[in-house]
Amino acid sequence: MAIKNTETSYGSIARLLHWIIFLLVLIIIPLGYFMDDVSDKVLRAQVVNIHKLIGVLILLLMLLRVLWTLYNVRPALPFQTPAWQKAVELIVQVSLYLGLIIMPLSGLVGSVAAGKPPHLGNFDIELPISHSKALADFAFDDVHVPLAVILIVLISFHILAAFYHHFIKRDDILRRMVSGGGHR
Ligand code: HEM
Repeated sequence: MAIKNTETSYGSIARLLHWIIFLLVLIIIPLGYFMDDVSDKVLRAQVVNIHKLIGVLILLLMLLRVLWTLYNVRPALPFQTPAWQKAVELIVQVSLYLGLIIMPLSGLVGSVAAGKPPHLGNFDIELPISHSKALADFAFDDVHVPLAVILIVLISFHILAAFYHHFIKRDDILRRMVSGGGHR
C-alpha cells in the first residue's frame, strides 16, 4: 500500500485525510445549523463548543493536507477527459480547499473576537487578536454564514461528480480515493 500519491492514484495518507475531513464536515454542518435549537443552556454551550473544536481539528487537518498535497504528485484524470472538465474539477478542488480553510478560520477568528474561544477543559484556544464586536460580526455574518451555503453547494457538486465518474463513466476516479486503485 503506497503512502504517497502516484501519477494514477492516491496514497494512504491523502485518502485518510480526505475521508476523515469528509466525515468531520458531514458532522459539523448539521451541528452548525441545529446547535442554536438546543433549549438547555448548558447543553447548548457544550454542543457549540464541540462544533468549534471539530472546526479547529478540520483547520489543522486541512493545513496538513495542503502541505501533503504540495509534497505529492496530483493523480491525473484519465487522458480522454475533456479539457473543460479538467478545468472544472481543478476549480472545484481548489475552492473546496480554500473553503475548508477559510470556514474554520472565520469561525475561530469570530469566536475569539467575541470573547468566546473554543475550550478543551480549562484550556482556551486563543488567537493573538483583541476582542472586537465589529470583527466578530464580520467573521460570522459576512464570511462563516454565507460560506456555509457555498460549501454545501461545492460539496454536493463534488459528490455528484464522483458518482458520475463511478456509475456513468465507470472509471476509477472514486475507487482510487477509496482503495487506492489506479484508473483505466
Ligand atoms: C469546516 C469547518 C466549519 C464548518 C463547515 C462550519 C459550519 C457552520 C454552519 C453550517 C453554521 C450555521 C450557519 C448558519 O446558521 O447559517 C455554523 C455556525 C457557527 N459556527 Fe461554524 N463551522 C466550521 C468551523 C467553526 C469553527 C472553527 C468555529 C469556532 C471556533 C465555529 C463557530 C461557529 C459559531 C459560533 C456559529 C454560530 C454563528 C451564529 O449563529 O451567528 N465554526 N458553522
